[in-house]
Amino acid sequence: MYGLRLVVFFVFYLTLAQSSLRKDQEYWKQLSTNELEEALAVKWNLGEAKNVILFVGDGMGPNTVTATRILKGGEGHRLTYEKFPHIGLLKTYSANKMVPDSTSTATALFCGVKVNFYTMGVDASVEYKDCNASLKPEARLDSLAALALKAGKSAGFVTTMRVTHATPGPLYAHSASRLWECDSALPRDSACKDVGRQLVEDWPGRDLHVILGGGRQGLVANATDRPMDPISSWGCSRSDGRDLINQYKRDKEARGLKYSVITNAAELKNIDENSDYLLGIFSNAHMPYEFERNKEPQGPPSIVQMTEAAIKVLKKNKNGFFLMVEGGNIDMAHHRGRARTAVDESLAMEEAVSIAVNMTSEKDTLIVVTSDHTHTLSINGYPERGSDIFGTTGPSKYDGLNYTTLTYGVGGPGSNKLKVQTDPTRIVRTDPATEDTTSFMYEQAAAITNDENIHGGGDVAVYARGPHAHLFHNVHEQHYVFHAISYAAKIGVYSKATTQYNNISVCLLTLVLGFMFRIIN
Ligand SMILES: *[C@@H]1O[C@H](CO)[C@@H](O)[C@H](O)[C@H]1NC(C)=O
Ligand SMILES: *[C@@H]1O[C@H](CO)[C@@H](O)[C@H](O)[C@H]1NC(C)=O
Ligand SMILES: *[C@@H]1O[C@H](CO)[C@@H](O)[C@H](O)[C@H]1NC(C)=O
Ligand SMILES: *[C@@H]1O[C@H](CO)[C@@H](O)[C@H](O)[C@H]1NC(C)=O
Ligand SMILES: *[C@@H]1O[C@H](CO)[C@@H](O)[C@H](O)[C@H]1NC(C)=O
Ligand SMILES: [Zn+2]
Repeated sequence: MYGLRLVVFFVFYLTLAQSSLRKDQEYWKQLSTNELEEALAVKWNLGEAKNVILFVGDGMGPNTVTATRILKGGEGHRLTYEKFPHIGLLKTYSANKMVPDSTSTATALFCGVKVNFYTMGVDASVEYKDCNASLKPEARLDSLAALALKAGKSAGFVTTMRVTHATPGPLYAHSASRLWECDSALPRDSACKDVGRQLVEDWPGRDLHVILGGGRQGLVANATDRPMDPISSWGCSRSDGRDLINQYKRDKEARGLKYSVITNAAELKNIDENSDYLLGIFSNAHMPYEFERNKEPQGPPSIVQMTEAAIKVLKKNKNGFFLMVEGGNIDMAHHRGRARTAVDESLAMEEAVSIAVNMTSEKDTLIVVTSDHTHTLSINGYPERGSDIFGTTGPSKYDGLNYTTLTYGVGGPGSNKLKVQTDPTRIVRTDPATEDTTSFMYEQAAAITNDENIHGGGDVAVYARGPHAHLFHNVHEQHYVFHAISYAAKIGVYSKATTQYNNISVCLLTLVLGFMFRIIN
């Protein structure tokens, strides 16, 4: 009996293993009839989005998503958000650039207008680095987090970057430069406040219920008490002696709010259930890549663990919540030209989407997964179906050498695979067979060598499920995401308070007019 079962299991397993590479008509028919049934079963959810979770895979363009899918389960696989019922495309240009940066695009996504390159949470009347213009109240934009708070909901964010970085910044800060993360980066005698202080001192930053990510060196002066985690020269560090983490604690205490301040995965796992406010700063600089993260309890948490904890805290509010989750290391790895690391980070964010799906209901929670911009990643022909996405294909008919399936348009010095030749009429590349192209550290070839890889200008996809997810249905402007979410959640100009108020005004006006009409008569 047992032997038979083993054989049956083995045959089943073999069939499963083969099924991903099946080519017969029956296989293709089944795949598409399943999809057809799924499409026919889609019903619009016209309910109100009590909760909204917005995932931003930084630099996660469509080719990055394709590579993630192939890595996870082969060409026929579907990622969690690829099963969402509604999808659209977003045009990512900014107010002054065809190809944007991350803070102008985050401002579009979260604040609803396109703005200038490198400016954060202020409209396009503010030029890059124009501090005075950014101080004008009418230039300062309210984010989805601010509108959610105004509507009585909880709000917060999770990022694998510094909490003061380009993407989370526009949720709470207004800055003429994304580089003004801490005091030492501001021009001398500037009238402007750095992003770190805005997070802790100003509204809506000081009312955010969840702040999880890296960036301790921009919040605490001389953050050198972490010998394993040195100050990074890439970001600014505080030199004004302030300890904004202490300031956060004092503010919450003064207001009698229940809070937790944490620094590692173990503390995140065991947060006090009574905490309504959660600040977790897990590294001096950006958080580490998932593949090299210290996975012990004393180490920093994963994006999945942060997302889970954030939802637990935010869910306590009966009015619902707004949460933004940024997979920022996708972009960081692409900038280094390391496709394997970028795709691995994209995989980690997909798992965070899965946990959000598991912890919420489609009935009342709108989950939107998108990206801020693409990178110049391309997927080259013609590897066999089932090949390693990080492997090689070819050969080139020019030099007879293979090339990697993934390459970039623009890359850093490591992407230059050309060898100096004594014969100037020939160009010779490094043979990828002599390199480990599947390594997390490998830099794929790029057409143009630069100091680093840079962003691409193609459209990004937006995937949605939950109340009013069908508002994402064709090619949209990126800043439309703010308006669609506001509408679905009834916040901002679509808030119940506003519309009820208008209704009352209309009623009053009718009464008054009616009364006057009678007097006149
Ligand atoms: C900004 O405003 C301040 C105060 O009004 C003024 O002294 C300063 O010259 C202005 N700076 C610029 C660059 O316009
Ligand atoms: C803190 O760091 C700054 C430079 O960032 C340095 O000038 C200052 O002396 C340091 N203070 C202490 C107390 O270490
Ligand atoms: C979500 O739930 C499914 C089904 O119960 C489970 O297989 C999966 O592991 C869960 N995902 C996460 C990230 O917890
Ligand atoms: C190119 O890759 C193919 C498939 O892996 C391999 O068979 C072939 O030997 C490679 N060609 C060169 C020139 O390395
Ligand atoms: C105004 O009130 C009427 C009657 O109560 C209601 O049907 C309508 O939906 C309200 N309009 C808005 C915009 O809330
Ligand atoms: Zn970037």
